[in-house]
Amino acid sequence: MCGICGVFGAGDHAVVETMLETLRHRGPDDSHIISGDGFAIGARRLSIVDVAGGRQPLTNEDGTVTAAQNGELYNFPEARDALVRRGHHLATRTDTEILPHLWEEYGEALPQQIDGMFAVAVWDSRRQVGLLARDRMGKKPLYYWQHGEALYFASELKAILAIPGFARRLNLEALQQKEAPGETAARLRDSTAIVDTALEQVRSLSLTLRPSVLDDLGLAAALRWAVHREAARAGLEAELALAPGDTRMQPELETACFRIAQEALTNVVRHAQASRVRVALDRNDGELTLTVGDDGAGFDVAAARQRAVAGESLGLLGMEERALLLGGRLEIESASGAGTTVRARLPLAAGPVAEDTA
Ligand SMILES: Nc1ncnc2c1ncn2[C@@H]1O[C@H](COP(=O)(O)OP(=O)(O)O)[C@@H](O)[C@H]1O
Ligand SMILES: [Mg+2]
Repeated sequence: MCGICGVFGAGDHAVVETMLETLRHRGPDDSHIISGDGFAIGARRLSIVDVAGGRQPLTNEDGTVTAAQNGELYNFPEARDALVRRGHHLATRTDTEILPHLWEEYGEALPQQIDGMFAVAVWDSRRQVGLLARDRMGKKPLYYWQHGEALYFASELKAILAIPGFARRLNLEALQQKEAPGETAARLRDSTAIVDTALEQVRSLSLTLRPSVLDDLGLAAALRWAVHREAARAGLEAELALAPGDTRMQPELETACFRIAQEALTNVVRHAQASRVRVALDRNDGELTLTVGDDGAGFDVAAARQRAVAGESLGLLGMEERALLLGGRLEIESASGAGTTVRARLPLAAGPVAEDTA
Protein backbone atom coordinates (compact mmCIF):
# COMPACT_ATOMS: atom_id res chain seq x y z
CA MET A 1 0.00 0.00 0.00
CA CYS A 2 1.62 3.30 0.98
CA GLY A 3 0.44 6.81 0.36
CA ILE A 4 1.50 9.72 -1.76
CA CYS A 5 0.78 13.43 -1.74
CA GLY A 6 2.20 16.65 -2.99
CA VAL A 7 1.74 19.86 -4.87
CA PHE A 8 2.49 20.96 -8.41
CA GLY A 9 2.93 24.62 -9.22
CA ALA A 10 3.22 27.70 -7.05
CA GLY A 11 1.62 26.28 -3.95
CA ASP A 12 2.67 25.94 -0.35
CA HIS A 13 5.37 23.30 -0.49
CA ALA A 14 5.87 23.16 3.26
CA VAL A 15 2.30 21.91 3.71
CA VAL A 16 3.26 18.62 2.08
CA GLU A 17 4.92 17.71 5.37
CA THR A 18 1.56 18.08 7.14
CA MET A 19 -0.31 16.26 4.39
CA LEU A 20 2.12 13.37 4.62
CA GLU A 21 1.60 13.18 8.37
CA THR A 22 -2.15 12.55 7.87
CA LEU A 23 -1.21 9.52 5.77
CA ARG A 24 0.95 8.02 8.51
CA HIS A 25 -1.36 5.00 8.94
CA ARG A 26 -0.84 4.10 5.28
CA GLY A 27 2.88 3.83 5.75
CA PRO A 28 4.24 4.27 9.23
CA ASP A 29 7.67 2.90 8.45
CA ASP A 30 9.18 5.55 6.25
CA SER A 31 8.35 8.91 4.77
CA HIS A 32 10.24 11.08 2.37
CA ILE A 33 9.69 14.28 0.43
CA ILE A 34 11.49 15.58 -2.62
CA SER A 35 10.84 19.19 -3.47
CA GLY A 36 12.22 21.68 -5.90
CA ASP A 37 11.30 24.45 -8.24
CA GLY A 38 7.56 24.13 -8.85
CA PHE A 39 6.83 20.95 -6.97
CA ALA A 40 6.96 18.86 -3.81
CA ILE A 41 6.17 15.15 -3.78
CA GLY A 42 5.96 13.05 -0.63
CA ALA A 43 5.49 9.34 -0.05
CA ARG A 44 4.92 7.06 2.90
CA ARG A 45 5.88 3.44 2.97
CA LEU A 46 4.74 0.37 4.84
CA SER A 47 7.78 -1.84 4.67
CA ILE A 48 6.00 -5.03 5.76
CA VAL A 49 4.33 -5.28 2.37
CA ASP A 50 7.08 -3.50 0.54
CA VAL A 51 10.21 -5.04 1.96
CA ALA A 52 12.09 -5.08 -1.31
CA GLY A 53 10.70 -1.80 -2.54
CA GLY A 54 12.87 1.15 -1.85
CA ARG A 55 12.25 4.57 -0.56
CA GLN A 56 10.09 6.89 -2.63
CA PRO A 57 9.93 9.32 -4.41
CA LEU A 58 12.52 8.30 -6.99
CA THR A 59 14.15 10.25 -9.77
CA ASN A 60 15.82 9.73 -13.13
CA GLU A 61 19.62 9.74 -13.44
CA ASP A 62 20.11 13.49 -13.10
CA GLY A 63 17.21 14.21 -10.77
CA THR A 64 15.24 16.25 -13.27
CA VAL A 65 12.21 13.94 -13.19
CA THR A 66 10.70 12.85 -9.87
CA ALA A 67 7.99 10.25 -9.32
CA ALA A 68 6.03 8.56 -6.56
CA GLN A 69 3.49 5.83 -6.70
CA ASN A 70 0.87 4.12 -4.60
CA GLY A 71 0.17 0.64 -5.86
CA GLU A 72 1.84 -1.95 -7.97
CA LEU A 73 3.03 -1.94 -11.59
CA TYR A 74 2.51 -5.47 -12.92
CA ASN A 75 4.52 -4.98 -16.11
CA PHE A 76 7.49 -3.61 -14.19
CA PRO A 77 10.00 -6.37 -15.11
CA GLU A 78 9.40 -6.07 -18.88
CA ALA A 79 9.22 -2.30 -18.78
CA ARG A 80 12.44 -2.11 -16.78
CA ASP A 81 14.25 -4.43 -19.20
CA ALA A 82 13.08 -2.38 -22.17
CA LEU A 83 14.28 0.84 -20.51
CA VAL A 84 17.68 -0.66 -19.71
CA ARG A 85 18.02 -1.79 -23.32
CA ARG A 86 17.36 1.79 -24.36
CA GLY A 87 20.24 2.95 -22.20
CA HIS A 88 18.47 4.09 -19.03
CA HIS A 89 20.27 3.52 -15.75
CA LEU A 90 18.00 2.31 -12.98
CA ALA A 91 19.51 2.25 -9.53
CA THR A 92 16.96 0.10 -7.69
CA ARG A 93 14.59 -2.82 -8.24
CA THR A 94 11.62 -0.72 -7.22
CA ASP A 95 8.75 -0.60 -9.67
CA THR A 96 8.27 3.12 -9.06
CA GLU A 97 11.68 3.80 -10.55
CA ILE A 98 10.51 3.02 -14.08
CA LEU A 99 8.17 6.01 -13.93
CA PRO A 100 10.68 8.87 -14.34
CA HIS A 101 12.37 6.96 -17.17
CA LEU A 102 9.07 6.14 -18.87
CA TRP A 103 8.29 9.84 -18.63
CA GLU A 104 11.53 10.64 -20.46
CA GLU A 105 10.56 8.21 -23.22
CA TYR A 106 6.84 8.75 -23.51
CA GLY A 107 5.92 11.97 -21.71
CA GLU A 108 2.16 12.39 -21.33
CA ALA A 109 1.61 8.96 -22.90
CA LEU A 110 3.18 7.34 -19.81
CA PRO A 111 -0.12 5.93 -18.45
CA GLN A 112 -0.50 3.76 -21.57
CA GLN A 113 2.86 2.17 -20.76
CA ILE A 114 1.95 0.85 -17.33
CA ASP A 115 -0.32 -1.95 -16.27
CA GLY A 116 -1.38 -2.45 -12.69
CA MET A 117 -3.21 -0.81 -9.84
CA PHE A 118 -1.74 2.57 -9.20
CA ALA A 119 -1.94 6.24 -8.48
CA VAL A 120 1.17 7.97 -9.78
CA ALA A 121 2.62 11.44 -9.64
CA VAL A 122 5.44 12.57 -11.90
CA TRP A 123 7.10 15.99 -12.05
CA ASP A 124 9.43 17.17 -14.78
CA SER A 125 11.61 20.01 -13.45
CA ARG A 126 12.96 20.99 -16.86
CA ARG A 127 9.58 21.32 -18.53
CA GLN A 128 7.83 22.40 -15.31
CA VAL A 129 5.09 19.92 -16.06
CA GLY A 130 3.44 17.39 -13.79
CA LEU A 131 1.41 14.27 -14.43
CA LEU A 132 -1.11 12.56 -12.18
CA ALA A 133 -2.62 9.26 -13.27
CA ARG A 134 -4.68 6.41 -11.89
CA ASP A 135 -5.25 2.85 -13.07
CA ARG A 136 -8.23 2.48 -15.34
CA MET A 137 -10.35 0.62 -12.78
CA GLY A 138 -9.73 3.22 -10.12
CA LYS A 139 -8.38 0.64 -7.69
CA LYS A 140 -6.03 3.14 -6.07
CA PRO A 141 -7.46 6.43 -4.87
CA LEU A 142 -6.17 9.87 -5.74
CA TYR A 143 -7.73 13.14 -4.64
CA TYR A 144 -6.77 16.57 -5.89
CA TRP A 145 -7.56 20.20 -5.29
CA GLN A 146 -6.80 22.85 -7.84
CA HIS A 147 -6.23 26.15 -6.10
CA GLY A 148 -4.98 29.09 -8.11
CA GLU A 149 -1.70 28.11 -9.68
CA ALA A 150 -1.30 25.07 -7.47
CA LEU A 151 -2.56 21.54 -7.80
CA TYR A 152 -2.56 19.61 -4.53
CA PHE A 153 -2.98 15.84 -4.62
CA ALA A 154 -3.07 12.94 -2.16
CA SER A 155 -4.03 9.31 -1.68
CA GLU A 156 -6.69 10.36 0.82
CA LEU A 157 -9.09 13.24 1.21
CA LYS A 158 -7.81 13.67 4.77
CA ALA A 159 -4.54 15.00 3.43
CA ILE A 160 -6.35 17.60 1.33
CA LEU A 161 -8.43 18.62 4.34
CA ALA A 162 -5.20 19.25 6.21
CA ILE A 163 -4.19 22.04 3.85
CA PRO A 164 -4.73 25.30 5.72
CA GLY A 165 -7.21 27.37 3.79
CA PHE A 166 -8.95 24.44 2.18
CA ALA A 167 -11.83 24.48 4.68
CA ARG A 168 -12.19 28.24 4.38
CA ARG A 169 -12.34 28.08 0.60
CA LEU A 170 -15.06 25.51 0.81
CA ASN A 171 -17.16 27.88 2.85
CA LEU A 172 -19.95 28.89 0.58
CA GLU A 173 -17.47 30.17 -1.88
CA ALA A 174 -20.04 31.35 -4.38
CA LEU A 175 -21.90 33.43 -1.79
CA GLN A 176 -18.82 35.10 -0.49
CA GLN A 177 -18.08 36.59 -3.85
CA LYS A 178 -21.15 38.79 -3.50
CA GLU A 179 -21.37 41.76 -1.21
CA ALA A 180 -23.44 40.55 1.71
CA PRO A 181 -25.11 43.19 3.86
CA GLY A 182 -26.40 42.98 7.45
CA GLU A 183 -28.27 39.85 8.35
CA THR A 184 -26.94 37.93 5.36
CA ALA A 185 -23.38 38.61 6.47
CA ALA A 186 -24.18 37.26 9.92
CA ARG A 187 -25.73 34.13 8.43
CA LEU A 188 -22.72 33.64 6.24
CA ARG A 189 -20.49 33.85 9.27
CA ASP A 190 -22.67 31.29 11.07
CA SER A 191 -22.59 28.99 8.10
CA THR A 192 -18.85 29.32 7.90
CA ALA A 193 -18.54 28.26 11.51
CA ILE A 194 -20.88 25.32 10.94
CA VAL A 195 -18.94 24.14 7.93
CA ASP A 196 -15.71 24.45 9.87
CA THR A 197 -17.12 22.33 12.68
CA ALA A 198 -18.46 19.77 10.26
CA LEU A 199 -15.11 19.55 8.52
CA GLU A 200 -13.38 19.09 11.84
CA GLN A 201 -15.81 16.27 12.64
CA VAL A 202 -15.30 14.64 9.27
CA ARG A 203 -11.59 14.81 9.88
CA SER A 204 -11.75 13.13 13.26
CA LEU A 205 -14.30 10.59 12.03
CA SER A 206 -12.11 9.62 9.16
CA LEU A 207 -9.36 8.99 11.67
CA THR A 208 -11.47 6.74 13.86
CA LEU A 209 -13.62 4.86 11.37
CA ARG A 210 -12.50 1.85 9.42
CA PRO A 211 -8.73 1.99 9.30
CA SER A 212 -7.48 1.95 5.75
CA VAL A 213 -4.91 -0.73 6.59
CA LEU A 214 -7.89 -3.09 6.58
CA ASP A 215 -8.92 -2.08 3.10
CA ASP A 216 -5.46 -2.43 1.78
CA LEU A 217 -4.24 -5.48 3.63
CA GLY A 218 -7.23 -7.43 4.89
CA LEU A 219 -7.76 -8.43 8.51
CA ALA A 220 -5.00 -11.00 8.96
CA ALA A 221 -2.27 -8.86 7.44
CA ALA A 222 -3.49 -5.74 9.23
CA LEU A 223 -3.35 -7.64 12.54
CA ARG A 224 0.13 -8.89 11.77
CA TRP A 225 1.23 -5.34 11.09
CA ALA A 226 -0.38 -3.98 14.28
CA VAL A 227 1.03 -6.75 16.45
CA HIS A 228 4.55 -6.33 15.13
CA ARG A 229 4.37 -2.60 15.57
CA GLU A 230 3.15 -2.77 19.18
CA ALA A 231 5.55 -5.58 20.03
CA ALA A 232 8.49 -3.66 18.60
CA ARG A 233 7.45 -0.54 20.43
CA ALA A 234 7.20 -2.31 23.79
CA GLY A 235 10.04 -4.79 23.36
CA LEU A 236 7.68 -7.77 23.47
CA GLU A 237 8.13 -11.11 21.86
CA ALA A 238 5.15 -11.67 19.56
CA GLU A 239 3.58 -14.91 18.49
CA LEU A 240 0.96 -14.92 15.77
CA ALA A 241 -1.41 -17.70 14.83
CA LEU A 242 -3.64 -16.29 12.15
CA ALA A 243 -5.97 -18.70 10.40
CA PRO A 244 -4.97 -19.14 6.78
CA GLY A 245 -7.19 -17.89 4.01
CA ASP A 246 -7.46 -14.46 2.55
CA THR A 247 -11.22 -14.37 2.11
CA ARG A 248 -12.61 -11.08 3.25
CA MET A 249 -15.29 -10.87 5.89
CA GLN A 250 -18.02 -8.32 6.47
CA PRO A 251 -16.35 -4.92 6.85
CA GLU A 252 -18.02 -4.31 10.25
CA LEU A 253 -16.70 -7.61 11.48
CA GLU A 254 -13.17 -6.88 10.32
CA THR A 255 -13.29 -3.41 11.82
CA ALA A 256 -14.61 -4.63 15.17
CA CYS A 257 -12.06 -7.41 15.34
CA PHE A 258 -9.19 -5.09 14.46
CA ARG A 259 -10.28 -2.45 16.99
CA ILE A 260 -10.68 -5.03 19.75
CA ALA A 261 -7.20 -6.34 18.99
CA GLN A 262 -5.80 -2.82 19.06
CA GLU A 263 -7.33 -2.09 22.47
CA ALA A 264 -6.23 -5.44 23.89
CA LEU A 265 -2.70 -4.88 22.59
CA THR A 266 -2.61 -1.37 23.99
CA ASN A 267 -3.60 -2.77 27.36
CA VAL A 268 -0.86 -5.38 27.21
CA VAL A 269 1.68 -2.68 26.43
CA ARG A 270 0.37 -0.27 29.07
CA HIS A 271 -0.55 -2.54 31.93
CA ALA A 272 0.69 -6.10 31.67
CA GLN A 273 4.47 -5.82 32.07
CA ALA A 274 4.55 -8.90 29.90
CA SER A 275 7.44 -10.33 27.93
CA ARG A 276 5.31 -12.18 25.39
CA VAL A 277 2.09 -11.54 23.57
CA ARG A 278 0.20 -14.08 21.52
CA VAL A 279 -2.47 -13.16 18.99
CA ALA A 280 -4.61 -15.77 17.29
CA LEU A 281 -7.42 -15.59 14.79
CA ASP A 282 -9.58 -18.65 14.19
CA ARG A 283 -12.60 -19.28 12.09
CA ASN A 284 -14.90 -22.18 12.79
CA ASP A 285 -18.48 -23.10 13.56
CA GLY A 286 -19.67 -19.86 12.03
CA GLU A 287 -17.60 -17.91 14.49
CA LEU A 288 -14.54 -15.72 14.29
CA THR A 289 -12.41 -15.92 17.40
CA LEU A 290 -9.74 -13.40 18.22
CA THR A 291 -7.43 -14.18 21.12
CA VAL A 292 -4.91 -11.79 22.61
CA GLY A 293 -2.92 -13.34 25.42
CA ASP A 294 -0.02 -12.08 27.48
CA ASP A 295 2.23 -13.58 30.15
CA GLY A 296 2.15 -10.47 32.29
CA ALA A 297 0.98 -9.42 35.73
CA GLY A 298 -2.70 -10.22 35.29
CA PHE A 299 -5.45 -8.28 37.01
CA ASP A 300 -8.70 -8.56 38.92
CA VAL A 301 -11.19 -8.50 36.06
CA ALA A 302 -14.31 -8.04 38.20
CA ALA A 303 -12.79 -5.11 40.03
CA ALA A 304 -11.55 -3.51 36.81
CA ARG A 305 -15.00 -3.92 35.25
CA GLN A 306 -16.55 -2.20 38.24
CA ARG A 307 -14.16 0.70 37.92
CA ALA A 308 -14.94 0.83 34.20
CA VAL A 309 -18.69 0.90 34.78
CA ALA A 310 -18.12 3.66 37.30
CA GLY A 311 -16.64 5.66 34.45
CA GLU A 312 -12.96 5.30 35.21
CA SER A 313 -11.99 3.67 31.95
CA LEU A 314 -13.34 2.90 28.52
CA GLY A 315 -11.17 0.20 27.00
CA LEU A 316 -12.66 -2.97 28.48
CA LEU A 317 -16.23 -1.77 27.97
CA GLY A 318 -15.46 -0.58 24.46
CA MET A 319 -14.19 -4.02 23.47
CA GLU A 320 -17.25 -5.60 25.06
CA GLU A 321 -19.58 -3.22 23.29
CA ARG A 322 -18.05 -3.84 19.88
CA ALA A 323 -18.44 -7.60 20.39
CA LEU A 324 -22.04 -7.32 21.65
CA LEU A 325 -23.08 -5.06 18.78
CA LEU A 326 -22.23 -7.82 16.36
CA GLY A 327 -24.05 -10.45 18.41
CA GLY A 328 -20.84 -11.78 19.86
CA ARG A 329 -19.19 -11.71 23.25
CA LEU A 330 -15.96 -10.88 24.99
CA GLU A 331 -14.29 -13.10 27.56
CA ILE A 332 -11.41 -12.07 29.75
CA GLU A 333 -9.42 -14.54 31.80
CA SER A 334 -6.83 -13.14 34.08
CA ALA A 335 -5.11 -14.08 37.28
CA SER A 336 -2.48 -12.34 39.31
CA GLY A 337 0.93 -13.32 37.99
CA ALA A 338 -0.56 -15.66 35.38
CA GLY A 339 -1.19 -13.30 32.53
CA THR A 340 -4.33 -12.25 30.73
CA THR A 341 -6.27 -13.67 27.83
CA VAL A 342 -8.85 -11.60 26.01
CA ARG A 343 -11.05 -13.56 23.67
CA ALA A 344 -13.64 -12.06 21.33
CA ARG A 345 -16.13 -14.42 19.74
CA LEU A 346 -17.88 -12.85 16.80
CA PRO A 347 -20.50 -14.60 14.69
CA LEU A 348 -19.73 -14.71 10.98
CA ALA A 349 -22.88 -13.27 9.41
CA ALA A 350 -24.61 -15.40 6.81
CA GLY A 351 -24.90 -14.30 3.22
CA PRO A 352 -22.42 -13.22 0.58
CA VAL A 353 -19.69 -10.78 1.37
CA ALA A 354 -19.40 -7.85 -0.97
CA GLU A 355 -16.05 -7.78 -2.75
CA ASP A 356 -13.82 -5.14 -1.33
CA THR A 357 -13.30 -2.40 -3.84
CA ALA A 358 -11.51 0.21 -1.83
N1 LIG B 1 -3.49 -7.17 29.68
C1 LIG B 1 -3.64 -6.58 30.89
N2 LIG B 1 -2.75 -6.82 31.88
C2 LIG B 1 -2.88 -6.23 33.09
N3 LIG B 1 -3.86 -5.39 33.41
C3 LIG B 1 -4.78 -5.09 32.48
C4 LIG B 1 -4.72 -5.65 31.17
N4 LIG B 1 -5.78 -5.20 30.45
C5 LIG B 1 -6.46 -4.39 31.29
N5 LIG B 1 -5.86 -4.32 32.51
C6 LIG B 1 -6.37 -3.58 33.67
O1 LIG B 1 -7.71 -3.22 33.43
C7 LIG B 1 -7.87 -1.81 33.58
C8 LIG B 1 -8.95 -1.31 32.66
O2 LIG B 1 -8.55 -1.37 31.31
P1 LIG B 1 -9.18 -0.34 30.27
O3 LIG B 1 -10.66 -0.36 30.47
O4 LIG B 1 -8.67 -0.67 28.94
O5 LIG B 1 -8.67 1.07 30.77
P2 LIG B 1 -7.26 1.81 30.61
O6 LIG B 1 -6.43 1.02 29.67
O7 LIG B 1 -7.61 3.15 30.06
O8 LIG B 1 -6.69 1.87 32.00
C9 LIG B 1 -6.51 -1.25 33.34
O9 LIG B 1 -6.34 -0.03 33.96
C10 LIG B 1 -5.61 -2.31 33.93
O10 LIG B 1 -5.50 -2.14 35.32
MG1 LIG C 1 -7.08 0.34 27.83
